[in-house]
Amino acid sequence: MAQPLISPSILSADFARLGEEVRAIDEAGCDWIHVDVMDGHYVPNITIGPAVVKALRPHTDKPFDVHLMISPIDQYLEEFAEAGADIITVHPEGGPHIHRTLQAIRALGKKAGIVLNPGTPVETLDYLIDLADLVLVMSVNPGFGGQSFIDSQLRKVEAIRTMIDQTGREIHLEVDGGVNPETARLCVDAGADVLVAGSATFKGGPGQYAANIAALRGQG
Ligand code: DX5
Ligand code: ZN
Repeated sequence: MAQPLISPSILSADFARLGEEVRAIDEAGCDWIHVDVMDGHYVPNITIGPAVVKALRPHTDKPFDVHLMISPIDQYLEEFAEAGADIITVHPEGGPHIHRTLQAIRALGKKAGIVLNPGTPVETLDYLIDLADLVLVMSVNPGFGGQSFIDSQLRKVEAIRTMIDQTGREIHLEVDGGVNPETARLCVDAGADVLVAGSATFKGGPGQYAANIAALRGQG
């Protein structure tokens, strides 16, 4: 299969050794680093904020793929940008003016991503895709790592691949949630080019990260 970019979610890392964990996945050959930001309001879980992104920045040169599961969003964009985010991805349900939010991310010089929850239709992208550098399809409901992949989202990935190709622009299509070597293949076949994986990257500890990442790329 075509080789996807792999963006390990540090939600499944050992939080007590986060800097080391980021260096370990970097050395193990990941492409991006996926940072799940949860506020206990938009989603039930609470994770990390811009201070942690800033603290991790010196540990790797790989792009920080920051997934904001927060509401409101706009007042935190600048802080995440300054902390070292490269891609900032937002949920349309997280704020009243998502079009403006995407414009604001780009005005900060960062790549803008839009994320669709499992229940959010593809049509949500109609008037937003022109402002997107990335579309993220959630294949679990956001909030926790380690959940099972929701198969119906593969149809959504296919539909968005068609939509992206029609724009003629380079827009990444990323899938997040329940991605393992088996579901990775289905996602790539459906048109995804970036895969987020938390549990499947970090399982077995640092000695396994390179093999886990290779397996997600289809090289296992
Ligand atoms: C879920 C997060 C995911 C999650 C993925 O809300 O957005 O990035 O950490 O974890 P796995 O790969 O374990 O499903
Ligand atoms: Zn995520």
